[in-house]
Amino acid sequence: MLGSNGQIGTVLSEKLVEKFGIENVVCSDVREPKIKHSHYFEIIDVLDKTKISDIIQGFKITQIYHLAALLSAKGEQNPELTWKINMQGLLNVLDLAVQHKINKVFFPSSIAIYGPTTPKSHTPQYASFQPTTIYGISKIAGEMWCEYYHNKFGLDVRSIRYPGVIGWQSLPEGGTTDYAVEIFHAAIHTGHYNCFLAENTRLPMIYMDDAIRATLELMDAAPEKIKTRVGYNLVGMSFTPKEIYLSIKERIPEFTIEYKPDFRQKIAESWTETIDDSCARDEWGWKVNYNLSRMCDDMLRQLKK
Ligand code: SER
Repeated sequence: MLGSNGQIGTVLSEKLVEKFGIENVVCSDVREPKIKHSHYFEIIDVLDKTKISDIIQGFKITQIYHLAALLSAKGEQNPELTWKINMQGLLNVLDLAVQHKINKVFFPSSIAIYGPTTPKSHTPQYASFQPTTIYGISKIAGEMWCEYYHNKFGLDVRSIRYPGVIGWQSLPEGGTTDYAVEIFHAAIHTGHYNCFLAENTRLPMIYMDDAIRATLELMDAAPEKIKTRVGYNLVGMSFTPKEIYLSIKERIPEFTIEYKPDFRQKIAESWTETIDDSCARDEWGWKVNYNLSRMCDDMLRQLKK
């Protein structure tokens, strides 16, 4: 796995170790992990193609989960670097996957591929995608590269357009949907949250458990079921800052919030509100488990431990 220190990588690497055994998973990131674990770990910069190639050969790697990327908000601070890491990193992986006959590749896409021209509600699998962030541009281009490698070289590459991911196990960094994780930590630690999005900004989100299960189910699905080689639309839930605040307040009555939208508001407004994920449901049987209320119960229970 590339990018195993990130919000999703932290949790997905645990699950892969559980599933395949600790001796069969190589985790990697550009820095040492902050939380020490016993998984096998290598420092890898995704721009260092030679190192990736050496690791693939040295460990006889058969699957690659390529999670390393700069996200939407952080990406805007350095568009050129974001493009380089997100795009060149993926191209290195796809090229080496073909060269070393890798069985399967996973590439995470995002709701950031949607833009102002995309239908805002029940966003279909295929629509007009003109993202406004460099992160979104890199993800839609990445999806198309994945499909191209599948068509041209038969590479078994699979992808999900993750909504904002919310989990207690790890913190997100540099994203626009990060508020929905921060708000839980604030509720527990200080009892107050300054939200960087406006109260009625509705965005698609998903609980970490569902996001990880979706990833594993997609990667386990028989190849003939996977008819979509761009990212699959995926629904978890959809809510506004006010709705998640009220849901937490039901459980922590003294919790307060203030809305102070910053530059991320514009990014959020360019994305869509609800998603049609019938492709994922029909092709590989996706089913969501957590709604807002179940998620709030579980998040608060876990974080309070
Ligand atoms: N969570 C991401 C972000 O906010 C979207 O994929 O950038």
